[in-house]
Amino acid sequence: MIGRHKFQLDTPCLVIDKDKLMHNLKTMQHFASQYDKNVRPHAKTHKCSKLAALQLESGACGICVTKVSEALELAKNNICGILITSPIVTDYKLSQLQKVVDLAPDTMVVCDQLKNLEQLNALAQMTRSRNIDVIIDIDAGIGRTGTDFESAFDLASSAYNMPFITLKGIQCYAGHFQHITDKDERANASKALLQKAASIKHRLEKMLGISLIQTGSGTGTYEIDCQIDGVTEIQPGSYTVMDKEYLDIDYTSAHFLPAMTMLSTVISANHQEHVTVDAGLKALYKDPTKPKIISHNELYYDWDYFGDEHGKLTGTNLPQNGDVIEMIVPHCDPTINLFDHFYITENDIVVDIWLIDLRGKSQ
Ligand SMILES: Cc1ncc(COP(=O)(O)O)c(C=O)c1O
Repeated sequence: MIGRHKFQLDTPCLVIDKDKLMHNLKTMQHFASQYDKNVRPHAKTHKCSKLAALQLESGACGICVTKVSEALELAKNNICGILITSPIVTDYKLSQLQKVVDLAPDTMVVCDQLKNLEQLNALAQMTRSRNIDVIIDIDAGIGRTGTDFESAFDLASSAYNMPFITLKGIQCYAGHFQHITDKDERANASKALLQKAASIKHRLEKMLGISLIQTGSGTGTYEIDCQIDGVTEIQPGSYTVMDKEYLDIDYTSAHFLPAMTMLSTVISANHQEHVTVDAGLKALYKDPTKPKIISHNELYYDWDYFGDEHGKLTGTNLPQNGDVIEMIVPHCDPTINLFDHFYITENDIVVDIWLIDLRGKSQ
């Protein structure tokens, strides 16, 4: 496949334009460094150790993951500064966490409950290894994970006082603000929330006499969050490759380019009004937002009950059997999780193939 034009690739497949990807990585690093903030990008988007390594080379202070199985894969690939952004509570997963910490000792994990703190403390005590580095997760108002604001201070103090835990900081990730279309509305919501979290961090730092991390933020709010005193790092994910949902929101300055596209081929053209392509639910994660076709004008994709393996194209000047269409996917994270490889292109020619090695690691 190396050396081929991208339109000669077997479809459906995911293609990353390397120049655009590097632009996105550098732009995020540059923006955050202007405000003296670290970037710990979230690998939940790209699920690729190679891309994580590139982010570290570009200046990231570490890499976030959601699941311990993702962390283990990154640790095996010598990725450092891992933060697991979701709690780990079962015995089996705690044993996996220990493996991660053995391979990558600077790994941190979030915690949102006293009982879970006790589990982590017992794990480190039992294995007689180093302390476990913990970030206290505060619920930003989604109700997904995190302790409430009122309990966060006490939980962090408890973590500090546990002999086999090292308190590293707090996390407050406002997923529900990331796609608010209006930039002022989004900025106001994020600012109020993260300032509230910062006040807890400042109180803890004053009482304990240590410096703490404040982590959170995503591609939708990084601009405002970088300007908040107290925030020490941001953890954006989608900015690497972007998607239609993020391209649709309003930014102060349009920073990121759609680096990743999907290619799909017309496989049946027997109707006046539509043709059928080879990308359905199993290739293109279904969201209310539709993909944006960039290879053809006035052509529209819909899943339209064509099922797992097929999609429907309508519009003017319908393509013919065998024609390849290129589109920006609605939601990059769950779409990437459906593929094994990224085809990396320069000037539309395939120059490399990267394994999506964290793909399917949902445990
Ligand atoms: C905890 C956490 N941090 C960071 C991100 C990255 O967000 P985004 O892809 O919006 O940049 C996510 C995404 O869901 C997340 O759940």
